[in-house]
Amino acid sequence: MKGILLNPSQPSKIQYTEVARPVCKPDEVLVRIKAAALNHRDEWCRQGLYPNLREGIVLGSDGAGVVEEIGSEVNTSFLEKEVIINPALHWGSNPRAQGAEFEILGMPRNGTLAEFVAIPVDRIHAKPIHFSWEEAAAFPLAALTAYRAVVVQGGVTSKDKVLVTGIGGGVALFALHIAHALGATVLVNSSSEDKLAQAKKLGASFGFNYTKPSWTTDLLQQTGGVDVVIDGTSGDTLSSLMSVASPGARLVFYGATRGNPPQLEARKLFWNQLQLIGSTMGSDTDFIRVLELFTSASLRPTIDQVFSLADAEHAFDRMKKGEQFGKIILVP
Ligand SMILES: NC(=O)c1ccc[n+]([C@@H]2O[C@H](COP(=O)([O-])OP(=O)(O)OC[C@H]3O[C@@H](n4cnc5c(N)ncnc54)[C@H](OP(=O)(O)O)[C@@H]3O)[C@@H](O)[C@H]2O)c1
Repeated sequence: MKGILLNPSQPSKIQYTEVARPVCKPDEVLVRIKAAALNHRDEWCRQGLYPNLREGIVLGSDGAGVVEEIGSEVNTSFLEKEVIINPALHWGSNPRAQGAEFEILGMPRNGTLAEFVAIPVDRIHAKPIHFSWEEAAAFPLAALTAYRAVVVQGGVTSKDKVLVTGIGGGVALFALHIAHALGATVLVNSSSEDKLAQAKKLGASFGFNYTKPSWTTDLLQQTGGVDVVIDGTSGDTLSSLMSVASPGARLVFYGATRGNPPQLEARKLFWNQLQLIGSTMGSDTDFIRVLELFTSASLRPTIDQVFSLADAEHAFDRMKKGEQFGKIILVP
């Protein structure tokens, strides 16, 4: 089969090449991938910035497809099922945090950027019928991460004003969909006026361009401040985010695209009773709940562009440059 391997000896650090078709273990199914999606994690792997990298691994955490083969312990009723894959493996028994065995599909285990992936049968879920294959592929990692950040860690309700940062991002757009569906007032920021306009069509009430130095004062003037922040950026934006947070606000961080914060204004943190909260992917229960939410509310993931697997380098480059609005899809 064809797949995208991590190969640091290539100029692009990835390689579209022939790889061995996976063989199911007894508790696994073999899924023929109809569509896969990129996460920033894949780009971090390509840049050599992800921990415990292994060369020659098929990248990709997100995928959807059809069960083509089953392991010896798997019920035959799974054959030919249309499924999406939960890429969070071995969360463990503690709902508050993942255990030491936690692993994400696509490094170090072979992932979804290929024609087939072998995966334990307990990681597959029926594809919602209102999703296209591309939408199904877009869903798993980013929707799970956004749901846990907004609902479980952020505790967002309809009374909250919620700021979602970097709205072009895959997780950020799911956070917008989820917070809006909960009835919250959603504010977004972005480097792009066009992305802000698109986000307003999806339910954002306010948009701010974070490349303008006045964006925090504009936000405070127009809205009075926010109750919850959902951020995947960290770095030097932490200070700005604390300045737009109302007293008692929860600031939820699921990523650090801009690295570690250079400083933490401790007085602002304690005087304003702020909560800084971390969030990573989500439990199996979180996955089931976000799938139920998107199904019952007929929500749909936002797709940016669809590339062929053979053209993966351009797809990765688009993510590296931050050009996307939503999920970047790869089709074998
Ligand atoms: N902890 C977890 O479980 C988990 C799960 C998923 C992702 N992550 C991490 O979360 C981050 C985002 O992931 P993703 O897959 O959603 O990435 P993505 O689709 O590549 O989106 C990245 C977005 O970051 C935004 N951004 C860049 N600089 C910014 C700034 N100074 N202020 C605000 N926004 C800024 C940009 O938004 P605009 O284009 O709108 O400007 C860009 O589109 C990555 O660091 C990733 O590794 C963590």
